[in-house]
This record gives sequence, structure tokens and C-alpha cells, in this order.
Amino acid sequence: MEATVVLGIETSCDETAASVVARSPDGTPRILSNVVLSQVEEHQAFGGVVPEIAARAHVEAVDGVVAAALADAGLGFDALTGIAATLGPGLIGGLIVGAMTGKAIAAARNLAFVGINHLEGHALTPRLTDGVAYPYLLLLVSGGHTQILLVRGLGDYERWGSTIDDALGEAFDKTAKLLGLPHPGGPSVERLAAGGDPSRFPLPRPMKGEARLDFSFSGLKTALRQAATAAAPLRQADVADLCAAFQAAAADSVADRIGRALRRYRDECPELAEPVLAVAGGVAANRAIRAALDVACAGHGVRLVAPPPALCTDNGAMIAYAGLERLEAGHRDGMDVPVRARWPLDETSAPILGFGRRGAKA
Ligand code: KG4
Ligand code: ZN
Repeated sequence: MEATVVLGIETSCDETAASVVARSPDGTPRILSNVVLSQVEEHQAFGGVVPEIAARAHVEAVDGVVAAALADAGLGFDALTGIAATLGPGLIGGLIVGAMTGKAIAAARNLAFVGINHLEGHALTPRLTDGVAYPYLLLLVSGGHTQILLVRGLGDYERWGSTIDDALGEAFDKTAKLLGLPHPGGPSVERLAAGGDPSRFPLPRPMKGEARLDFSFSGLKTALRQAATAAAPLRQADVADLCAAFQAAAADSVADRIGRALRRYRDECPELAEPVLAVAGGVAANRAIRAALDVACAGHGVRLVAPPPALCTDNGAMIAYAGLERLEAGHRDGMDVPVRARWPLDETSAPILGFGRRGAKA
């Protein structure tokens, strides 16, 4: 008999996902099922995620995805201890769909409900996959977020740095769109970069050498657009060289920021037996970025923990696991708890406002 069994529901962006995670009697968490339905095809024609299309797709898919997660786990609702659903940050229509579904199941089955911050789901994943102990440093690099966090404990996060404009995944996606490559852009850019010359187009390394631990990618994106315009009309080899130049600049910039963060981490947490940098988010799948992180970690005596790609990108297991930790800690939310488009993990750190088209990513 499992001690705690949680159904997690994730609908904050363009993946409808549900998962069942349980704590085994020996204390290790186990993923009993993990169903992710991607909407990539629905959004492909638009070169990005369209919020209204996403919300409608979640409405159509969520019941089936939840049923599939329970079926894969071989469990019924009565085997569950509680339900966890993402309340934010993200696209509000999708968040409402997932939160209402979770609340409805909890109400109908008389189960505990707990709302989860999507970023907390990413932040705690290294504990689910690798049993990493608190505190650890986390680099979250996705399509919506780019931040460095010290994860001190459940609900106890200190943001050390964040992007002041675009998220790194967003910069990859915009680069791909500009060069006429398919969405999602990150994998497309990485594929072409493999055959390109990173030195042909000199691009800036944003924030390199700055004492603060923030990121910036909009200047890099502009520099890339200017280089592409100057080289037009673009042949396949030009596109490959531009991808390689962009990826190298992004990896260098991340390496510089993380190098500084690791120095601070070692200074502030000198007593740790095994210091860890964990990465999360879709961009963590990028091999050039991973290689840069490997070098930085080796130089600072820090272990790099990178969960498998399917658990780095958006999924339900990370929400179920965060729900598991929260339920075990006694957290419960009422049926009136709201969804939130913006919801920083570290509510005490100063907001970074006024940069970029969509503002700083919370
Ligand atoms: O974490 P995620 O699945 O969704 C959220 O944004 O929360 O991350 C998706 C992002 C997209 O911007 C995608 O282009 C990027 O991760 N990505 C990559 C790679 N694979 C996915 N970026 C660079 N290289 C990759 N191989
Ligand atoms: Zn995410």
C-alpha cells in the first residue's frame, strides 16, 4: 500500500498533462504514470502558442488525459490521497481548465486539493528524479522562464537572477521563426547549428562579465536579425552558420552567468557535502548549453543534475510530485483558490519591471 498517491494536472501552456506519483513505503517517490499530450501541431502554423487555441485544446483533452494517467497507473480515483493542479504562472485560459478539473475531481471524490506553482514543479523535479537534498542551486531555462534560484526547502526559494527581457527558449524560438525554421525552434536551431560555423557571424555575449546574475537575450536576437538581413538571401549554409553563432553566443552567456552563480553558491553554502546545480526546462535538452554547464560545474566542484528530457519539459509528474511534498507537509487549498497568470516563486525578491515586450518573465 502506498503512503501518499497524488494525481497531478498541468495545463499552463501548450501541453495537456496528467500523472500519478506515489511515495513508496521506503520513502522514494515513484512515477506510476505520466501522460503528456502536446499541442505542437495545433500551433505550428502560427509559429508560436496561441492562447485561445491552447485553452480550447485543453478543454477537449484534459478529461481523456486524466483518465489515461489513472489507467496507466492501474488506479481509480479512490486510490488517491489528493489532487494537485497548476495554478500559475501561465496562460490564464489553460490554467482555469486544469484548476477546475482538479477541483471538480477533489470535490466529487472528497479528496484533498493543492494548487501548485508551475515553477515549483520544475524546481523540485531533481528531488523526484535524483533524490537531491535541499539546498541546491537551480537553473530554470524554458520557453517562458530563465532564472537562477537557490532552492532552500519546500516553498523556500531565493531568486538570484532572472532574464530582464526574453526567456532563452523564447529567443531560440524567435531565432527559428526569423530563419524560417519549424516551431518549436530550439530543437530546429540545435539541429542546424550542428552543421554550421559558429565563428562566421560575430554575435554579442549578453551580460557577460556583469556582477548581477541576470540574463538578457533580446539584444542577441536583434544582432542575429541584423546579421541575417545583411547576409540575405540566405542559403542553407548561411542559416546553419547563423544557428551555430546564436547557439554559441547563448551557451557562452549562460556559462558566464552560471559560473558567477556557482561561485556565490560555494561561498554561501560552504558546508554542503555534495553541492548540486540542477537544470530544468526545455532548453536544458540543448547539448551545447549542457556542455557549457558541465564545464562550469567541473570548475567549481559542483555536481550537475539534469533530469531526463521528458521530465525537463512540461509534464504532469512534476506537478504531482510538488503536490506530494505539499500534501505531506500538510498544505491544502480551498475551492476558492485562484489561478494566477504571473506568480514569482520568490515573492520577496524585487520585481524586474519594464523590460521587453512582455515584461520580465515572472
Ligand atoms: O519547459 P518547456 O517544455 O516549456 C515551457 O516553456 O515551460 O520549454 C520549451 C522551450 C521552447 O522554447 C523550446 O524551443 C525550447 O524549450 N527547447 C530547446 C530545445 N528543446 C526545447 N531549446 C534549445 N535547444 C533544444 N534542444
Ligand atoms: Zn515549464
